[in-house]
Amino acid sequence: MPNSFKRTLVTAALPYANGPVHIGHLAGCYLPSDIYVRYLRSKGEDVRFICGSDEHGVPITIKAKKEGITPQQVVDKYHKIMGDSFKEFGISFDVYSRTSSKIHHQTASDFFKTLYDKGSFTEQVTEQYFDTEAGQFLADRYITGECPKCANPEAYGDQCERCGSTLNATDLINPKSTLSGSVPVKKETKNWFLPLDKLQPKIADYIGKHADWKSNVYGQCKSWLESGDGLQPRAMTRDLNWGVPVPVKGAEGKVLYVWFDAPIGYISATKELLPNDWEKYWKDKDTRLIHFIGKDNIVFHCLIFPAMLMEHGDFILPDNVPANEFLNLEGDKISTSRNWAVWLHEYLLDFKDKQDVLRYTLCANAPETKDNDFTWKDFQIKNNSELGDILGNFINRVIVLTNKNHNGLVPEASEYTKQDLLILEEVAKAPEKIGASLEKFRFREALGEMMNLARLGNKYLAEQEPWKLIKSDEKREKTVMNIALQISANLAIVCEPFVPFTSKKLFELLNLNPLKWNSARNTNNLAARHKIASDAPILFSKIEDNDVQLQLEKLSNTKKQNASENTSIPKAKAETSFDDFNKMDIRVGTILEAERVPKTDKLLKLKIDTGFDKRTVVSGIAEWYKPEDIIGKKVSILVNLAPRKIKGIESMGMILMAENAQGELSFVIPTKDNSNNGSIIK
Ligand code: MF3
Ligand code: ZN
Repeated sequence: MPNSFKRTLVTAALPYANGPVHIGHLAGCYLPSDIYVRYLRSKGEDVRFICGSDEHGVPITIKAKKEGITPQQVVDKYHKIMGDSFKEFGISFDVYSRTSSKIHHQTASDFFKTLYDKGSFTEQVTEQYFDTEAGQFLADRYITGECPKCANPEAYGDQCERCGSTLNATDLINPKSTLSGSVPVKKETKNWFLPLDKLQPKIADYIGKHADWKSNVYGQCKSWLESGDGLQPRAMTRDLNWGVPVPVKGAEGKVLYVWFDAPIGYISATKELLPNDWEKYWKDKDTRLIHFIGKDNIVFHCLIFPAMLMEHGDFILPDNVPANEFLNLEGDKISTSRNWAVWLHEYLLDFKDKQDVLRYTLCANAPETKDNDFTWKDFQIKNNSELGDILGNFINRVIVLTNKNHNGLVPEASEYTKQDLLILEEVAKAPEKIGASLEKFRFREALGEMMNLARLGNKYLAEQEPWKLIKSDEKREKTVMNIALQISANLAIVCEPFVPFTSKKLFELLNLNPLKWNSARNTNNLAARHKIASDAPILFSKIEDNDVQLQLEKLSNTKKQNASENTSIPKAKAETSFDDFNKMDIRVGTILEAERVPKTDKLLKLKIDTGFDKRTVVSGIAEWYKPEDIIGKKVSILVNLAPRKIKGIESMGMILMAENAQGELSFVIPTKDNSNNGSIIK
């Protein structure tokens, strides 16, 4: 780290308080940030570690509605659960605050007011959907309707989960409010926008100065700045009743956009931690501000929050934003709603006192530069073959031998051989090497270097064989054991950021007060005749195949349960009239031609003979039917549907399909041959 900084403020993304913490959260930002902060603390640097719950936003209101409780009750529940999990896994925040707190509301409100008074915002009146029955504007997530791209009838106002398109609520065909089921109406509303388009040159200038950031982060910023029309104005207020009220006249019933208020939460939390001293962490140019986040947060931390800070003027800007990619679980995307996750509080029920094993595995497999996979098999290997066989085994042998041959007293070293000197030199280099990797946010590499020290210790013992020397050359044996003990002490120091629970145990076994990082540059931390513990516990008990099997079964049950939930048959739609039904003209037709629509996975372009014309229809069936298999097949076709452009092709009508609970489609067709093209279906 450049020495020109006097202090460091490290933040970890404020997690949404709408569910417990899982391994993806931990691997994404809480573990790396914790390792980093522990390292800086051990180096004796002035560092503060900030986090808290992000308690606003639409998903929390949706969760509340689902559970029939208030948003406040939702966040109270999860704030507690999340805070406890972080503690249990040794995530050493100096403060774990929350955005529903008074201090945060005040801070966020003042921040907005400052920008408002400076004229930083533009006011824009836009048309938003309004639910007249519920009497409120609808956030995009509260609206469903048909996807204009793939005709999925249950797309959300912000995106279609079937085809993955990003949508605007106003794009949906036949929109419906999920609050009341009614058809929403468009209504004008005024909101305050941050003109990111106008701020773009300043933001680009700022990003340009940070080409040293992790390439995944820098690259994404660049592509946001350089794509299409560049940055667009973004509304910083929303029509919603859960959040920080907008502190200006004429904004009744509106709250700050959650991505406006949440990052300000870092400031509020610092205030909570250091009521009299917080400013130097946010306003002094000698402070280094570092945000640890997951990749889905990059745009907010690298572009929008810095833009807000620049507009405000009083604050320093983030110096680095190390973001990780995503962690998958057994090959599948982690998902809270599908319960496809390893929850921290559940993990501890099955693997009591094995927090460090999870920390180790997640760090070794951290999705640092690309998405990565967590598997239980790999977890077992990390415990048994790495932590157990390398680190645990080394410490165990050193303690056993010291007790067996020296009554638990550190023996004195006499003459060092050439090889001893090389080993000692190597040992003394470890903190430098590990530190260099950590400072570059290369946590996997740093962890590897830490384990190399344990490997070195094992190799040294294996080569010197003190258990043989004790019979042939006692003096030499003492030197060897002294060196092995020094390596143990240094391991206790340098493993602390990664596996703090183990580090604590090692210091206890060595009967030492915890030592700071730079002590590991020495190789004489244990004085001769110092007494160590008399028992050598197993540091990493074996994880059996059976334990792994149990976890895999749990996951496979989750899969089964998800599948059975998905097979539930949707309820009947609201009543319709015969007249309405009769408006539809459905005919029997025959597929004459079929081909894939280029650059799509789902779409086929069909030529249909309807008996009275031959027309083109684009149909989302490519996953279920190959073009060559369906030529000549009979279909049912809605012929008087208004034409729609799909991927640039004019589609005239719609093929009727039966969709099962898994979303698989099949043709709805007449069962006798006597229905020729053009036959009416009624
Ligand atoms: N709650 C957001 C998420 O989980 C992160 C917010 S980070 C903050 O994706 F900066 F806004 F606080
Ligand atoms: Zn779609």
